[in-house]
Amino acid sequence: MNYRHGFHAGNFADVFKHALLARLLVYLTRKDAPFRVIDTHAGEGVYDLAADEAERTLEWEGGIGRLADLHGADDETRALLAPYLDCVGAFGEEGRPALYPGSPMIAARLMRAQDRAIFCELRPDAYETLRYRFGRDARVKTIHIDGYTGLGAYVPPKERRGLVLIDPPFERTDEFAAMFEAFLAAHAKWPGGVYALWHPSKDARAERAFLDGFGKAGVKRTLRLSLAVASGGEGLRRTGLVVVNPPFVFEQEATKILSFLSARLAQGAGAGFEIERLTGE
Ligand SMILES: C[S@@+](CC[C@H](N)C(=O)[O-])C[C@H]1O[C@@H](n2cnc3c(N)ncnc32)[C@H](O)[C@@H]1O
Repeated sequence: MNYRHGFHAGNFADVFKHALLARLLVYLTRKDAPFRVIDTHAGEGVYDLAADEAERTLEWEGGIGRLADLHGADDETRALLAPYLDCVGAFGEEGRPALYPGSPMIAARLMRAQDRAIFCELRPDAYETLRYRFGRDARVKTIHIDGYTGLGAYVPPKERRGLVLIDPPFERTDEFAAMFEAFLAAHAKWPGGVYALWHPSKDARAERAFLDGFGKAGVKRTLRLSLAVASGGEGLRRTGLVVVNPPFVFEQEATKILSFLSARLAQGAGAGFEIERLTGE
């Protein structure tokens, strides 16, 4: 387990994932009934963008650093991004937010008093930070556990509505398969949950096999969203999110958000976004 999210916090892939995550959470708050969030690979919860890890890569500059202002965004786009950007908070003079919220912080900020969350993290130092940050939040349980094991153990939640985020580090060569297997097992026990599965786009063949798996397994209502900042080049340039059981308005909201983000976060030719209905009703 070499992966440390601090090197990547606030990069374009985080902005993509977290802006969409915030919309999924906002939708859940539209009913009074409580919901549950399960974040299988939670990370530290919050990242200091002035810390050594972020300073070494400066990946945040190509991500959240480009959203210090929203010039060119229309009112609807601003309103759709507001819940996410409210979690990010104020930007400093150099266009850097003091702290960048990870998925647990975004969930905790958008949850209400009646909602609950389970944050799983396996790396001991990351887990200690996570536990420290959320130890006093009675709505949250942090667990030092393999995320896939945690997912199997905690679905279905008693609330019967909610969201699972599966956001592994992709250090394992079989991560697509492991993620899909854990998802399918959880989905069999809790078919009504909203599931968001993040992935990098580096290995086109493995990615296509993963995406085709949803239809083959008979999983319904599956949307795949992707964002590219350029085609080719070194490092991560394209990323994706599969959302199972997306809220009714999500595709429309995501189209609006991603058309803005793909232009704002572009690094070169080939930047853009795609939304694909992998499976229907
Ligand atoms: C991509 S980061 C998560 C980022 C976080 N979801 C966010 O959006 O802020 C992946 C995290 O998974 C952790 N991790 C690695 N293997 C794990 C496992 N088997 N179970 C749970 N967490 C794991 C890593 O330590 C890392 O913090």
